Amino acid sequence: MNNFHLVGEELWCENVALPSIARDVGTPAYIYSKASIVNNLELLMGAFESLNVQICFSVKSNSNLSILRLMADRGIGADIVSGGELFRALKAGIDPKKIVYSGVGKTAPEIHYALKSGIGIFNVESEAELHAISDIAKAMDTIASISLRVNPDIDAKTHAFTTTAKKENKFGLPLCAAADLYAAAHSLPHISPVGIDVHLGSPILSLDPYRRALELLSDLYGRLHAMGIKVHTIDIGGGFGIVYKDETPFTPIQFAAILAPYAERLKCNFVVEPGRFVVGNAGVLLTTVTYVKKTPSKLFYICDAGMNDLIRPPLYDAYHAVVPVMQRKAADQTIADIVGPVCESSDFFGKHRTIDRVAQGELLAVRSAGAYGFSMASNYNSRPRPCEILVDGSSYSVIRKRESYDDLIRGEA
Ligand code: LLP
Repeated sequence: MNNFHLVGEELWCENVALPSIARDVGTPAYIYSKASIVNNLELLMGAFESLNVQICFSVKSNSNLSILRLMADRGIGADIVSGGELFRALKAGIDPKKIVYSGVGKTAPEIHYALKSGIGIFNVESEAELHAISDIAKAMDTIASISLRVNPDIDAKTHAFTTTAKKENKFGLPLCAAADLYAAAHSLPHISPVGIDVHLGSPILSLDPYRRALELLSDLYGRLHAMGIKVHTIDIGGGFGIVYKDETPFTPIQFAAILAPYAERLKCNFVVEPGRFVVGNAGVLLTTVTYVKKTPSKLFYICDAGMNDLIRPPLYDAYHAVVPVMQRKAADQTIADIVGPVCESSDFFGKHRTIDRVAQGELLAVRSAGAYGFSMASNYNSRPRPCEILVDGSSYSVIRKRESYDDLIRGEA
């Protein structure tokens, strides 16, 4: 359920017509459905109810403060990868104890900030990082709770750029090195090893990689307990797939079912780090067709949104459905490339798409753009980034203003 639906021939978000939002705020604009986000959170919370699972929303997928506030209000934690994401999560009111911090390159100021904020767990990705955290914790006279992020060399069958747990990836530590490093961590007075962490990649459509990872992690868990290192948490990461086109992702209930036997056997807590699952289908990028351009070989719908606003299609060859906001029953179809105004041939939302014929000035919606849309947007070509809108029932609010030309040069000399 994503709450973007047709009312007559017109696409609405919840009880608001998309053209009315476009009239008020202009395009391009990111439009999110609050009901969809809340519904997705409730699916997760319901599935994990009988297990001890902390849901940590992956802030990188959508970092808007108002979106993060929806998480905070429901007791959801955060998966962060930078000081900036920590700042946002705290501003939104997320409980610092429910924050887990991953990333291969945490800097000393970032580690200091995270310790000062009292975050829950550092997911440590190298021996050098372990010692950096230990030194900073010592200087601050505090104790850092850590998990080691292991790299189990599992192929999650995602795009090469979003695969994170194969041995050639920069993420995590080889499983074979983990026990020794846990022993080293255990001996450091300002480090407390509390868990084991993994993130396999994203988006993942099969439960198999998670099953394999859980098996390997539970072995390590047993070994650590035998060594007297009483870790209590398994962080299985995020990456839960969603429907972009015709995929059949697993459900949170199915995911919970693979955790249950381990919960029973190990008596452990879990952390999950979903981002895309929560927000992906809850957002669209609304754009206006600036020009229709016909060449001898192609028909182009040239939009006012571009790759700087949504980079997933060129970056990952990702599929996003593109649909007209007015879907006339009598419309005839055509084949077009849906492109932006950016000066790159990689600036496209869809190529060779079968789509209703639209005219200059009409609105298109790029679907499933709630995750890794605005959060990966840039100012390339000196384009101000779009506004973000949160629809709630029959009303909506601007949760991020459209950038101005002045915003583009802020801080420049
Ligand atoms: N945890 C860690 C440590 C991660 O690195 C990620 C994503 C997640 C959780 C959340 O994954 P999710 O549940 O949202 O799939 N920009 C790409 C995705 C890169 C994700 C990087 N890490 C995209 O647009 O598909």
